[in-house]
Amino acid sequence: MTETRPAPWGETTVVGTPRPRVDGYERVSGSAVYAMDVTFPDMLHAAIVRCPHAHARVKKVDTSKAERMPGVRAVLTGESPGAKLPWYFGEKGPTSLLFDPHCRYEGEEVAAVAAETPQQAHEAARAVAVEYEELPFVVDYEEALKPGAPAVHDGGNRNGEPDKYERGDVVRGFAEADVVVERTFKTPCEIHTPLEPHGSVAKWDGDRLTVWDTNQGVFDIRGGLAQWLQLPLTSVRVISKYMGGGFGSKIEPGKYTMIAALLARKTGRPVRCFLSREESFLCVGNRPPNTLTLKAGAKKDGTMTALQLTGLGTSGAYPEGSGAGYLVTDLYSCPNVRTEETDVFINAGKGRAFRAPGFPQGAWVLEQVMDELAVKLGIDPVELRLRNVPTVSQRRNNKPYTSTGLARCLKEGAEAFGWKAARATPRGRGPVVRGVGVAAGMWGWEGEARSTVIIRYAADGSVNLCMGASDIGTGTKTVMAMVVSEELGVALDRIQIDHADTGTTPSAVVSGGSQTTHVNSPAVRAAALDVKRQLLEMAAEQLKVEAASLSLKGGEIVAAGPPEAKLALKDLARLQEQQVVVGVGHRHPHPKDKIGLPFVAHFAEVEVDTRTGEVRVLRLLGAHDSGRVMSPLGYENQVFGGMTMGIGFAMTEARILDRNTGRMVNANWHDYKLPTAQDVPAKPVCVPIDPHDTEVNTVGVKGIGEPATIPTAAAIANAVHHATGVRITEPSINPVQMAQKLWARR
Ligand code: MOS
Repeated sequence: MTETRPAPWGETTVVGTPRPRVDGYERVSGSAVYAMDVTFPDMLHAAIVRCPHAHARVKKVDTSKAERMPGVRAVLTGESPGAKLPWYFGEKGPTSLLFDPHCRYEGEEVAAVAAETPQQAHEAARAVAVEYEELPFVVDYEEALKPGAPAVHDGGNRNGEPDKYERGDVVRGFAEADVVVERTFKTPCEIHTPLEPHGSVAKWDGDRLTVWDTNQGVFDIRGGLAQWLQLPLTSVRVISKYMGGGFGSKIEPGKYTMIAALLARKTGRPVRCFLSREESFLCVGNRPPNTLTLKAGAKKDGTMTALQLTGLGTSGAYPEGSGAGYLVTDLYSCPNVRTEETDVFINAGKGRAFRAPGFPQGAWVLEQVMDELAVKLGIDPVELRLRNVPTVSQRRNNKPYTSTGLARCLKEGAEAFGWKAARATPRGRGPVVRGVGVAAGMWGWEGEARSTVIIRYAADGSVNLCMGASDIGTGTKTVMAMVVSEELGVALDRIQIDHADTGTTPSAVVSGGSQTTHVNSPAVRAAALDVKRQLLEMAAEQLKVEAASLSLKGGEIVAAGPPEAKLALKDLARLQEQQVVVGVGHRHPHPKDKIGLPFVAHFAEVEVDTRTGEVRVLRLLGAHDSGRVMSPLGYENQVFGGMTMGIGFAMTEARILDRNTGRMVNANWHDYKLPTAQDVPAKPVCVPIDPHDTEVNTVGVKGIGEPATIPTAAAIANAVHHATGVRITEPSINPVQMAQKLWARR
């Protein structure tokens, strides 16, 4: 076991080069086994009975007809033995039940059925007769705070006290300002809607449960299940070998998993429970929507003097919180800052972490206000930002950053984008006008420095890499194999990977928070170095030389000499006798007095048809400081995917709740508009900025998944403003809104 922290990497030869994914063939050919593909000869299928009302009390559940239907093997309600389980453990605020008779949102779980076929299960679910008492509902978070509004919970509609932050004195700060801008913005409620729906296959072997599940972290799901079922951790095995996207919605354990486990226990047969697309819109999370007012003050030279944010938003029927304030408090140097965010309950599905929770919302507000300040001050928007780049995290007791590439992202991004020329170019005189915009961002979570990895080095020099981390579609397996290859000189196709299986792999943190690469790669590296050390010690003993004079090159042990010597693995006696060398690596702690976080600047060019209000994003450029670029292909994937999601935030995506019925009217992929190939620029550009951070961790990497989506929407809105003079404060930037705004200006 490597106890000493190895020196940080300098130049690398495998890491940083473009390599296809190690599991690309399986993913593309369809041979990869996702949780949805797992099947057993005696497997049953589950369907969930859901409340069709926004707010109702379950009076009576009559399962007698359903139980008599063909193929039905079990029906589960809140009254079934073992099914009265508390839900939302560990959260502050109101709790619920697996099947709560007080249904607080459309789609809340009421009962479940297991049958021989999916069709029989759905038929039977429809035949469960539920008598509801419909209750008055509220689906608008501003309405929810008004006196007399229907109460989602007995304690009222406020989710605790407002979330507050303060430093300095904003009153003094605004008094010192030469220019003040204040504006109110709204942010949309986005649905994660990953390609792979949420679901599980549950199978019991005696008192032990195995679950094939769609999630971002098998150990967290195992923890939840063990707690609910009161089982030892090691009696619950959770496996998630392939993942079709989660974006944060697959971090929490789902009721569907628990339902599959209970039905499987009741029937003594494996049970598969997968959500339909519609269910995935209603019940497994969203990005909480907000109304945010930001007031910002700056001196003539662009120095920020004060920032004040007031927010109101909703996590739905249960607590989640928004977190839009963080970016406002930490992206730019500013001595006087105050934020206050109020979260209210409404009758809608609970929010969940959603790719950079709170940060795209924060950027939508902060970066548009910065744009407006720049115009008022007559300072170029890139320049204004450059004048306020901090070197410390003001939010974290002024801890210095291990590295900050924010200024470089802005400068080198602007250069590569041709910012100056594009900004100076007249917008065009015809009905179709063009404009460019910039927005910056950072990600505020340093991750949990906790990972243990095992590497088994076989007698022929091939490797098994065993790690708990999930590859949620980002290429984690490929990156970690590249780290092994870098240290041990093993070709990628000679590395077999076991991962994301609580039965066989060591513990890992959830693949979320942009932490997967920077938390795990140092542990993988440490495990590889542990293998190398053992191999060299074996060779030293055999060759009777100092281990320090030996190195591992191309599957051979080489002694630098004198005398020079080579030892092939097949001649390494102890390796051949043992047949395996096992290396273990642990993640080292984060630096104590510093903090390592990623930074970003996005640039957008748009074209607006002032007759129709149509907006096209012509160009997007993402300049990112995420530390070392481990895999240029995976890195670009993240940047382009994040930008596409940003287009969705700005231009197409929004949950729409009908205030007359309380129901979501666009719970499907037809009416909920995800951006498609037609909405993204033909050639997005990725500009990696690597500050060669030797302090953040032994690999020098900081994380790209979430930063990639933070400032895109604001950059687009700023470009629309540059093109038209119209400031869009409320998504979506669509022809309807644009035409209205453009028309109003005539
Ligand atoms: Mo993320 S929202 O931590 O998957």
